[in-house]
Amino acid sequence: MRIHQEGAIHLTFCALLTSAAVLLGTTVAKAGTPPPLTSEQGVVAADHELASRVGASVLANGGNAMDAAAATALALGVVSPLSSGIGGGGFALVYDAEAGETRAFDFRESAPEALTPESFLVDGEPDASLAQRGGLAVGVPGEVAGLSHLVETFGNLPFSQSVAPPCRLAHAGFSLGWFVATQAGPFADRVSDPDSLAGWLYDDGEPARRGDHVRRPRLARTLHYLGRYGPEAFYEGPIGRDIVDTVQSDGGVMTMDDLANYEVIEREPVTGSYRDYEIASMPLPSSGGLVILKALGILEAYEDATGFSFADEPPGSSAPMHILAEALKHAFADRARYLGDADEARAVAERFLDPDRYAELAERIDPERVLLPERYGDQDLEAAAGVQPDDRGTSHFCVIDGEGNAVSLTTTINHYYGAKLVGEKSGVVLNNEIDDFAVEPGAENLFGLVQAAANVVGPGKRPLSSMSPTLVFEDGELVGCFGGSGGPRIISNTLQGFLNVFARGMDAAEAVSTPRIHHQWSPDELVVEDPPRDVAQALSARGHDIDLSTYITAVQAVVVREDGTREAASDPRKGGLPAAEPDRRGAGGEGDR
Ligand code: GLY
Repeated sequence: MRIHQEGAIHLTFCALLTSAAVLLGTTVAKAGTPPPLTSEQGVVAADHELASRVGASVLANGGNAMDAAAATALALGVVSPLSSGIGGGGFALVYDAEAGETRAFDFRESAPEALTPESFLVDGEPDASLAQRGGLAVGVPGEVAGLSHLVETFGNLPFSQSVAPPCRLAHAGFSLGWFVATQAGPFADRVSDPDSLAGWLYDDGEPARRGDHVRRPRLARTLHYLGRYGPEAFYEGPIGRDIVDTVQSDGGVMTMDDLANYEVIEREPVTGSYRDYEIASMPLPSSGGLVILKALGILEAYEDATGFSFADEPPGSSAPMHILAEALKHAFADRARYLGDADEARAVAERFLDPDRYAELAERIDPERVLLPERYGDQDLEAAAGVQPDDRGTSHFCVIDGEGNAVSLTTTINHYYGAKLVGEKSGVVLNNEIDDFAVEPGAENLFGLVQAAANVVGPGKRPLSSMSPTLVFEDGELVGCFGGSGGPRIISNTLQGFLNVFARGMDAAEAVSTPRIHHQWSPDELVVEDPPRDVAQALSARGHDIDLSTYITAVQAVVVREDGTREAASDPRKGGLPAAEPDRRGAGGEGDR
C-alpha cells in the first residue's frame, strides 16, 4: 500500500474536534449485493461509502438529517474532491417533519460582481475556454454558507459537530475509492498546482490506486478553522483570502467583498404530480425540477390519452424508452429556449408547468417515429436554441432521519476538479461553475453548445443548473428522496429513478441500478445504456440516433415504505454505498441487506 498526502503539514487539530469515531457504529451496505439497505432508523445514501458513514455517524450522535447532510457534503469534498467540495455550491430540498413543510435552499455559486460577458472577450471574440479553467471560471462558492445555514436553521447540533468528522477523515486519511482512483490518472494531471492537489494523488508521476491510503492535511487544517471559527473563516477570513488570492493570480476578478456578500437564497420549491404522487423539486436557477415535472406531466398526459401504460412495459423494451425520450425532448427543448437566472425566465416558469400544455405536447408524440427537432416544446416563442454543458462532476445524496426529516442535496464544483485551481494554502478545489452560463448570447461553449439569452453571465447571477434534488409524497407523507449527478443527465436519470420505484414497483437498489436512457433534445441523440441489439434497432427504426458513449451518472435514492422502513441505495455506477444509523433501541443494531 502506498501513502499519499498533500504537502507535509503535520496536524493534530481535528482529532481534538472529534469525540466519536467517524467510521464506527454505522451499518454499511456490502458492495455488489443487489438489495437496498433497509432500516427503521435514519439512513444516508451518498455516492461514496465513507461519506454515507460520516452522515450516519452524525445521526448516531444525536444529529438530525440536516446535521448529517452538512457532514455528508463536507465528507464528499474530502474523499471525492473531483466532484464537489467547499469550493463549490449546491441545492438542498429539505423536509421538516415537525412543521410538515418542504423548503428549498439555493447555495449555488454566483458570478463575481465584476464578471460580465466582456470578461471573456479575447481580441473582441468570446473565448468560452476562459469559463472552463482558471480564475475567470470560478463562481463565488456557496457550499459553506448553505451547509451552515441548514444546520443553523434546523440542526440539533452546532455546525462544528458536522465539520469534525470530515476534518478527521482529511487529517487521518482514508482508503482511495475506485471511482476517484480511476479518474485520478486522466484528470489529476490537469490541475494547476501539483504540489497541493495532485500531490496526494500522484507519487513520482504515478497516479494513486484504489486502496492507497491518502491524506489531505491542508484541507484538514481548513476544515479545522471552519469548525472552530464558523463560516466567517471562509467568507471573511483566511480561507476566503486564500481563495481570492488564488483566483486573482490566475486572471479572475473575485474579491473579498464578493465572498462577504454571498447569500443563501430560500426559494419556493416547484411542485407537480405523477399519478398518486406529489413531487417537490428545485426551482430556478435549477432547470432540474421544471424539466422533471414537465416530462412527467407529458408522460402522464400521453398515457391518459392513449392507454399506453409505462408501468406495464418491460423496462428494457424500446416502446417506453421511445415515449420517455419524446417527453424529455419536449421538456428539454423548452429548457434551452427559456430558462436561466433571470426575471424573464421566472415569468415563463409558470407557463412551463401548465397542464394544458402537457396534453398538447403529448398529442404530438408519435409512438412509431421521432419528430423534426423544431416540433418539440413550446412553439409560441422563438427558439433561442441550445443545450447544456456536458459536465460530469457533481454528487447527490439523500438523508432521512429517524424522525422523518429529509434532505435531498446535490452539490458540485462542476467539471472534474472544477477550474483546475486549488487554494495554495487552503487545499480548496475551486469550481468552474461559470461554464454553466453562456458567456455571450449565441456564443458557443467548449462543447459547441449555445444557450438561452436568460442564461448569459452577469454580475451576481447564478448559472442555470441541472441539479435536481427531489422529494416525493403520497397523501402528504414523505415516501421518497431522489437525485443524481452527471450534468443534464441528472434530470433524466433522477426522473427514471422515481419512475422505477413509483411506476414500476422496483425497490430502491434496482431503481438506481437498472439501465437508463437520456435525451436532451439537442444534440439530437438518444443515449441508451447497454441496449440489446434488437432494442437499439427498434429505436433506430423510429428515427433515433443512438449514442452508446456513456459517462458516469449516479442516482441515489431513499424510499420510505408503508411500515416506515427506509430503503436506501447508492448507484453502483460510482461504487457508492449507503449507511444506516445504528438501532438505538439496542435491538439488532444493524440495517439489513
Ligand atoms: N454543474 C452541474 C449543474 O449545475 O448542473
